[in-house]
Amino acid sequence: MQTREAFGVLFLILQGMTGARASQPCIPKFFGKNAMVCVCNATYCDTLDPVSLPDVGNYLTYTTSLAGQRLERSEGKISPKRGVLSGLSYTYNPDVQYQRIKGFGGANTDAAAVNIMKLSSAAQNHLLRSYFSEEGIEYNLLRWPIACSDFSMRPYSYDDRCRDDFELKCFSLAPEDTKLRIPLLYRFMAASKRPLSLIASPWTSPGWLRVSNKVQGKSWLKGKPGDRYFDTWARYLIRFLDEYSKYNITFWAISSQNEPFTPTFMPIKDFPSNYFSPQTQRDFFIKDLGPALAASFHRNVHLITLDDTRVLLPTWANVVIGNHSAAKFVSGIGIHWYVDPVVPPGPTLEAIHRLYPNVFMLYTESCNGFLPWDVKVDLGNWKRGVAYSRNILTNLNHFVSGWIDWNLALDMEGGPNWVENFVDSPIIVNHLKDEFYKQPMFYHLGHFSKFIPEGSVRVALSSNCFISCQLKSAAFLRPDGVAVVVLSNDWSLDVTISILDNRVGYIEDRVPAYSIQTYLWRWHP
Ligand SMILES: *[C@@H]1O[C@H](CO)[C@@H](O)[C@H](O)[C@H]1NC(C)=O
Ligand SMILES: *[C@@H]1O[C@H](CO)[C@@H](O)[C@H](O)[C@H]1NC(C)=O
Ligand SMILES: *[C@@H]1O[C@H](CO)[C@@H](O)[C@H](O)[C@H]1NC(C)=O
Repeated sequence: MQTREAFGVLFLILQGMTGARASQPCIPKFFGKNAMVCVCNATYCDTLDPVSLPDVGNYLTYTTSLAGQRLERSEGKISPKRGVLSGLSYTYNPDVQYQRIKGFGGANTDAAAVNIMKLSSAAQNHLLRSYFSEEGIEYNLLRWPIACSDFSMRPYSYDDRCRDDFELKCFSLAPEDTKLRIPLLYRFMAASKRPLSLIASPWTSPGWLRVSNKVQGKSWLKGKPGDRYFDTWARYLIRFLDEYSKYNITFWAISSQNEPFTPTFMPIKDFPSNYFSPQTQRDFFIKDLGPALAASFHRNVHLITLDDTRVLLPTWANVVIGNHSAAKFVSGIGIHWYVDPVVPPGPTLEAIHRLYPNVFMLYTESCNGFLPWDVKVDLGNWKRGVAYSRNILTNLNHFVSGWIDWNLALDMEGGPNWVENFVDSPIIVNHLKDEFYKQPMFYHLGHFSKFIPEGSVRVALSSNCFISCQLKSAAFLRPDGVAVVVLSNDWSLDVTISILDNRVGYIEDRVPAYSIQTYLWRWHP
């Protein structure tokens, strides 16, 4: 036997013994200068090895950079003494602890599901393993529209066949649920090592419950909280949970309405949405949904309020959670990122956390390409990845407990979307070629989702950059005791850094120009 073959056989035997599969590198494809995606198809996809921490005294780094690295793994030695490198110095302090982390994920919309199913089954498996498995970025959260969203192929609710069906006799899940999204969910669960938490959210309701008498378009419920229209709407939401439990699917949380306010200002006429004022939602919780949920089999499902942009946060939370009768039913606040650039986190996130420290805040929807003048799908756009990771860092540093992206996968146009509200996604499916593209957004998200599991807590990370600091950072302590620091460098220069953990010493490294890095280390075996 040739030496090379012998090594090959030895390698295979070792692989078999450890059960490990070697990671596969990204196959790059460029759609312009620096606009790089990783291409996957039926026979190939880039993968990662399960995270294995080096011994105490060493650290692990993953790097994604404009220069072309994609979650590239490397190791280094932690030194007991400070070296000669100057630059930014951080101090990691796990004794100062902030919010608990719930996790990271995306939305299994009808559009996402139909795009995934247009691939060959081998390519589908690569896609879902990219998101959910240890080979990928290990999402643990999944947002789930209740009936149609705009990212569907048609407008519908679960009770369109009868009028004034207050007993919900004609209620039934749609083929989009039973043929597309539920079968896919079983495969996500099978691929995932972590338990998935599902968050359901309705866009619209049956036309007969709405002032417009139509399921599509912007309208609001007939009647008022406490009457048969609002009561039926509460029972409809619980019926949705009942029907899903027949498939052994339980939800971790339900938001009572996707964007109860923002669609009012959107120029899209048929956008499916129920308008609620914070006062109406408060009274709906007190009179209808709260008691109905509490009396149902789903009393452990967390109720989320708002599910809309940050600008509405102080008013909305004060009206809903500021009322004790409503607050007793509410566990959390859902937030969408769309106006974040013009609404500072201090007076919104920070202020609301201080007022209601026991109510979690969770980002429930974000995407790029949503402005009317934006390029919708912009393949390989690095800045869109940076926008994701820097938004996540800011929010995590202001008591947000997790971040959910919008559609898991879209087509080359940024759809399908029956009101043509096309946007971008971390994964774009090109079904004509039976391939899909993992964009920079995918890897930026992975720097959090893969390494900061549910139950981690954010901890203090102080630095010597007081005035202007070119890096953004956040630090965490995982349930397994592992320390995590995420650093984002959106500068044209490499930056040398040191991270001091008093228990082990100094990590000294270089954060490359235009990159994001996740550092991990442990301090006891
Ligand atoms: C799939 O991708 C691999 C790696 O880029 C390539 O070698 C192979 O030809 C592709 N298969 C098809 C059917 O395009
Ligand atoms: C749900 O779980 C039960 C008990 O494990 C099992 O008998 C049943 O077949 C499952 N149903 C579905 C639709 O998966
Ligand atoms: C809470 O809301 C209910 C229903 O609108 C109202 O009757 C009650 O006065 C409110 N309580 C407080 C403390 O604001």
